[in-house]
Amino acid sequence: MLHHRLLTGFAAALFVSPVHANVLQEQAQRFHPIESGGGMVAAQEARAAAVGAEILRRGGNAVDAAVATSFALAVTLPQAGNLGGGGFLVLWLPRSGRISTCRAAARSTPPAEAIALGRGEAVALNFRETAPLAARADLFLNPDGSVNRERALRSLLSAGVPGTVAGLTQVQARYGCLPLRVVMHPAITLAQQGFPVGAELSASLKAAAPLLKADPTSARQFYRPDGSTYGPGDIFRQPQLAASLRCIADAGADCFYRGRLARQLAVLMARGGGLITAADLAAYRAPWARPLQTSFRGHVVLTMPPPSGGGATLLQLLKVLEPFDLASTGLNSAATIHTMVEAMNLAYRDRNRLLGDPDQVSMPLDRLLSDPYAVEQRRRIHPDRHRSAAELEAEPSPALEGTNTTHLSVVDRDGGLVATTTTLNTAYGNGITVPGAGFLLNNEMDDFTAKPGAPNAYGLRQGEQNAIAPGRRPLSSMTPTLVFRADGSPLLATGSPGGSRIITTVLQVLLNRLVHGLNLAAAVAAPRIHSQLWPDQISTEQGISPDTVRLLEHRGHRLQLAPAMGSANSVEVRYGTGAWSRTLGVADPRRLDSAAVAESP
Ligand code: DON
Repeated sequence: MLHHRLLTGFAAALFVSPVHANVLQEQAQRFHPIESGGGMVAAQEARAAAVGAEILRRGGNAVDAAVATSFALAVTLPQAGNLGGGGFLVLWLPRSGRISTCRAAARSTPPAEAIALGRGEAVALNFRETAPLAARADLFLNPDGSVNRERALRSLLSAGVPGTVAGLTQVQARYGCLPLRVVMHPAITLAQQGFPVGAELSASLKAAAPLLKADPTSARQFYRPDGSTYGPGDIFRQPQLAASLRCIADAGADCFYRGRLARQLAVLMARGGGLITAADLAAYRAPWARPLQTSFRGHVVLTMPPPSGGGATLLQLLKVLEPFDLASTGLNSAATIHTMVEAMNLAYRDRNRLLGDPDQVSMPLDRLLSDPYAVEQRRRIHPDRHRSAAELEAEPSPALEGTNTTHLSVVDRDGGLVATTTTLNTAYGNGITVPGAGFLLNNEMDDFTAKPGAPNAYGLRQGEQNAIAPGRRPLSSMTPTLVFRADGSPLLATGSPGGSRIITTVLQVLLNRLVHGLNLAAAVAAPRIHSQLWPDQISTEQGISPDTVRLLEHRGHRLQLAPAMGSANSVEVRYGTGAWSRTLGVADPRRLDSAAVAESP
């Protein structure tokens, strides 16, 4: 049987167009996605992915599963899953489908930001943290004008007003099928009863000890009473976090923004010299947003608009790269990497100079995503000479007109898609746990420009557009993304952690899948490269051949072998004749504990 399929694949691949070749070549590939006749959840931690699959089995849709998995990740992946952070989400749901218990969403009026696509509706949700009302542009500057990195990453001042609870409860109420209590129940149980610690979490807690033990509440929450680290297989219980989750399940977001959790957070801030007040929490909103959209090689790509700098930069890259025949130059060849890197540097230059929070600064988004601009940028790419960061930095951009995040993807049995990326910023955020509430705070304020041109935790040198200001949201690189076929039917959901590398990770997953003929598993597994203008070098994962490295050096590039980049947990919908028939899931092999879990065989 396998033999037969291989022959058919090879024979057919000789005659078909690239899009069909993607499907026909699949049996010849080295990696394979998990398959399901129902829905699928791909996430960075296996227990949390299993929670989402169980919610699908109970009649939940993609939104219920994504919310259940997100709350579970706040328990099982404390370095990134969170109540005290923020994130973005992009969803597409069909207007009607087989999930019978889910009629409410189909009946109610969509938010004004929703767009019609195919036989359904898509919308984005912005639950990014906001700067507290008392925050000022010089918050992280020392008296001598230098940036205080410790304050920007490890103090109460580094925390933005958290958005996760507002975002998850809001999207679940509007688009979910099941009661919030049902969706949150598994996370509460995991926190209350505990779960056996995996090798990855144990190692991560050990590495984070200097950060987490600096805060007495975090030390109690994450280590044994004698201070030792939980080993693989040890049961890790978080009763205070369980009580916080229960309060949210019972009282909704009010518990977090006006109730018990708001009081506990405000007391911590007032006592410790932080800026977040009860008024900041009460004023927090998670606005719906219209997804950014472009067409790419016969597909429709939807992604997150600003304050994600990820979506806009991804679409700029896709537009610039679309006409290049990357399939012929070949996956990860020197010629392909050179073209991608030159495009990346141009796009990151615009990201860092021009993008920010659209509620507070204006930006030339239409121009950046226009066809003429893509043509202009393409002309700037020399076919075989690297243009240095200094050279690019000296050129003007269009004038202004007026390690550790986590991504999960869900598909349900109606083809509904959710891509959501959430974060505390760096692993375990600022390392400070809210006393009595059992959750960690983010250090997302470091994503702002502390000082123009000074690199942040990801080496990004940003500008005034992203300065700290009261109520403003820091520019992000998180890029939850959905792809559709030309007829508007759902194809895939993807995204990744990785700070500034998120955008280039998502780009490469899409190029590998849509251009290079790899199936989803191979597309996610393939070695990645990254360039972001500054530092003026290409970071490469293992697996780029030394010959290729030499060819790139001849073109003027500097290369640096880097640790694995990203964790692009992704799902796909495969169509049979007429209707879709199977769903596919891929857990990025770069993380030990990740999993794709099927609703049914
Ligand atoms: O929003 C951003 O761009 C960053 N705070 C994301 C941080 C991140 O991905 C760290 N993960 N590895």
